Amino acid sequence: DDLERLAAEIDRDATVVALTGAGISAPSGVPTFRGDDGVWDHFDEGQFTYGRFRSDPAGFWEDRIELQRELFGDDYEPNAAHEALTEMEQEGYLDAILTQNTDGLHGDAAAAVADDELENGADATILELHGNARQVRCIDCGRRRDGDPIFERAAKGERPPTCDCDGIYKPDVVLFGEQLPGAAIQRARTLARESDVFLAIGSSLVVEPAASLPHLAVSSDATVGVVNLESTPVDDAADVVCRADVTEAVPRLQSSL
Ligand code: OAD
Repeated sequence: DDLERLAAEIDRDATVVALTGAGISAPSGVPTFRGDDGVWDHFDEGQFTYGRFRSDPAGFWEDRIELQRELFGDDYEPNAAHEALTEMEQEGYLDAILTQNTDGLHGDAAAAVADDELENGADATILELHGNARQVRCIDCGRRRDGDPIFERAAKGERPPTCDCDGIYKPDVVLFGEQLPGAAIQRARTLARESDVFLAIGSSLVVEPAASLPHLAVSSDATVGVVNLESTPVDDAADVVCRADVTEAVPRLQSSL
């Protein structure tokens, strides 16, 4: 079937790149942004811009505490799709995971393997294009810290929370209107161009750079596969469109390699 066709293109010599979005974490209980009951139905995207963070950091933090609770308030763990990608990487089939997710679940899946099989886990190649919501970063000195204690301080009224250097902490994620980390996006573009197989998994593919990365792969004659419950703007240009749940499709792909 469709996934078998994709699997046939994947071998250890091919450059295989996966781009993931909120859909891969949905089965772990992390809500998606768009679609049925998406986070942007309950929250106003416009309150989470970089401009607002700069002009009204206290208000930004107040709203961000609520958003953080909605996104990551419940305990969540990697699911079979994260695990299958990690396995593909461990087995030498997958060269990189580019993720828009800030939930850290690809890293957790890789760390779980690293604990079990110490030899390979360390070189898992995960690029978090939108940052990591478990961390905060001081906008003055650049120091990164575990986010939990800082979010707790903010919840108790320290808004905005500040660093020892008096700089304001920002959740270590890319906000609307903020530049993506230059090196990561460069690397992502290069990987998309160099890929022989490019997999877009659980993303609506409407936000940059996810919207254009699959097209870079198409232009470089990669075989492009889309895994999504719904249609995406990339479907027409893709070689394989798999309309299935990530926890069904990705393990099935992995096991047919
Ligand atoms: P979206 O919420 O826009 O899209 C999630 C996609 O996953 C949708 O197309 C769903 O159809 C699909 N999906 C949901 N559950 C699925 C499942 N179990 N199996 C397969 N597909 C499933 O999420 P992203 O594309 O990641 O940016 O959104 C991109 C960016 O927009 C996010 O990183 C965030 C947001 O605003 C920032 O925060 C900067």
